[in-house]
Amino acid sequence: CGIVGCILKKEKAAPILLECVKKLEYRGYDSVGIATLTSEIHIKKDSGKISEVDKKVRLSDLPGNMGIAHVRWATHGIPTKANSHPHTDCNGTVSVVHNGIIENFKELKSDLISQGHVFKSETDTEILPHLIEKYMKSGSNLEDSVRAALKYVHGSYAIAVMSSLEPGKIIGVRKESPLIVGKGDGEYFLASDVPAILKHTKNIIYLEDDEMVILEKKGITIKNKLGEIIKKEVHIIDWTPDMAEKGGYDHFMIKEIHEQPEAIKNTLMELTDIEKIVNKMGNVKRICFVACGTSYHASLIGKYLFESLGGIPTDVILASEFKYSAGSLDKDTLVILISQSGETADTLKALRTAKNTSKTLAIVNVLGSTATREADYIIYTRAGPEIGVAATKTYISQLTCIYMLAGLLCKHGDLVDKLHEIPQIIQNMLDNEDYIKAIAQKYRDAQDFFFIGRGFSYPTALEGALKLKEITYIHGEGYAAGELKHGPLALIDDEVPVVAVTPPGESHDKTVSNVEEVRARGAHVIAVGAESDENLQSEAEDVIGVDDSIDEIMSPIPYVVPLQLLSYYMSVARGIDPDKPKNLAKCVTVE
Ligand code: G6P
Repeated sequence: CGIVGCILKKEKAAPILLECVKKLEYRGYDSVGIATLTSEIHIKKDSGKISEVDKKVRLSDLPGNMGIAHVRWATHGIPTKANSHPHTDCNGTVSVVHNGIIENFKELKSDLISQGHVFKSETDTEILPHLIEKYMKSGSNLEDSVRAALKYVHGSYAIAVMSSLEPGKIIGVRKESPLIVGKGDGEYFLASDVPAILKHTKNIIYLEDDEMVILEKKGITIKNKLGEIIKKEVHIIDWTPDMAEKGGYDHFMIKEIHEQPEAIKNTLMELTDIEKIVNKMGNVKRICFVACGTSYHASLIGKYLFESLGGIPTDVILASEFKYSAGSLDKDTLVILISQSGETADTLKALRTAKNTSKTLAIVNVLGSTATREADYIIYTRAGPEIGVAATKTYISQLTCIYMLAGLLCKHGDLVDKLHEIPQIIQNMLDNEDYIKAIAQKYRDAQDFFFIGRGFSYPTALEGALKLKEITYIHGEGYAAGELKHGPLALIDDEVPVVAVTPPGESHDKTVSNVEEVRARGAHVIAVGAESDENLQSEAEDVIGVDDSIDEIMSPIPYVVPLQLLSYYMSVARGIDPDKPKNLAKCVTVE
């Protein structure tokens, strides 16, 4: 979910909140709502995408120059109008938006019901306005009531609260969910992330867990858990609002795919910082990567790199599995957490556990996100804001960081030199993307796909399949090419296209043999390989060529690009919005 709040000088708040909350749609898009405050609270909300709800209820048509807003990704209670935020107390005097999960809400709710409170939704959030109302009724002011209510709450939250009993104030508090504060010229904001408010201010304050911000017309006050005023650094953000817009492309995803050459160049500028980190870290005897989704696939490439180039034993663990199988971490193990958002709940949980025993390094794209504040060492991927739910440029930047790190830790300086050549190679592929678009058209109606590869190309196959599933809703399975014969070959026929990732190198010939096996079962094969690979031209029905200079080790970075494009154009051909695939969110802040 995503939240926003603002206090403006004279302007109406609702249209601005609507515009800000649209930038947060990547965090969830099954419901949306806005509350504004004059002498009373006014609310409009419903389930559906922002544009649909806006059409139906005219969200910006609310009075007043202060308010809060929310986009929802359902966790407790299906997407309905009643379950949409903002939520209120019985009398409509307190209004709350919330990102996170209140774990003990059932107990709190039954207590409140026994005290006469009437609930309208199935959400965990609704207990908050009721609890706050309870303390306000007994004489506390809004600030103390919020603090008192949160004492009973277990779980994670970033909330924004307003009350008609104390107009002119918005209170924000965070715990384990992101919340930032924007300091404009006499205008004040809070939001789940920076792009939401970038158009209005570049002066950002990052709140820490348990800190509270009080927005008022006269300015902002930040307090710690004890209610003492604290001073916080104001960061000037150098992202431009344009970076969070589509810039002439049809979708954020295709824009972000095209930004990949730039993303690699920008990420390469982190080399000096990575060198400093490597020098500080000292001996690394073992590595353990922890991540989810696309970041997990980047981690798998890390394993192949660190083991083959440096002989460093490397594990890769899905963050959600970490607590069940973390293995034996010790002080000589470097735990590398990879997360574009820096907010994925499973990854943060693993980070907190790993910190007890090991050195932790987080590779993260979002500045100031929770992971960057909790890990011992931080490397930033400089991909810029990624809005499309399916990760593309952040993946390429994560790989760039992993290669730089491997180059330094495994003393293979040539890796970094080779990285410098990749942006141009990717650019050449992007300039010829119409070819991939035509292949996408050809296979748009397929029901099942296989993606196969060996060695460094196995994680690339997994990532290709994940992209396909995410944005085309076609069943795509990534498989180690050598494993096909141990089961999945039974599924192959002329209706199941197979994408083979076959860069030149050690695994090439064996993967080509696997291509022959699937062809013998009737499969249509799309091969991604070196431009001048004649073998592929005769084995595969469609061949997507990548620059000949790319060897197997470097292949994961450029070879994933055609797979991203294939899924993107198939998604568009199937009439799906690739930026907002159903049931998914960019940032998953629940376990
Ligand atoms: C979500 C996103 C994926 C992402 C995964 C991990 O599922 O939809 O694109 O790969 O989370 O996110 P992280 O921010 O930790 O990289």
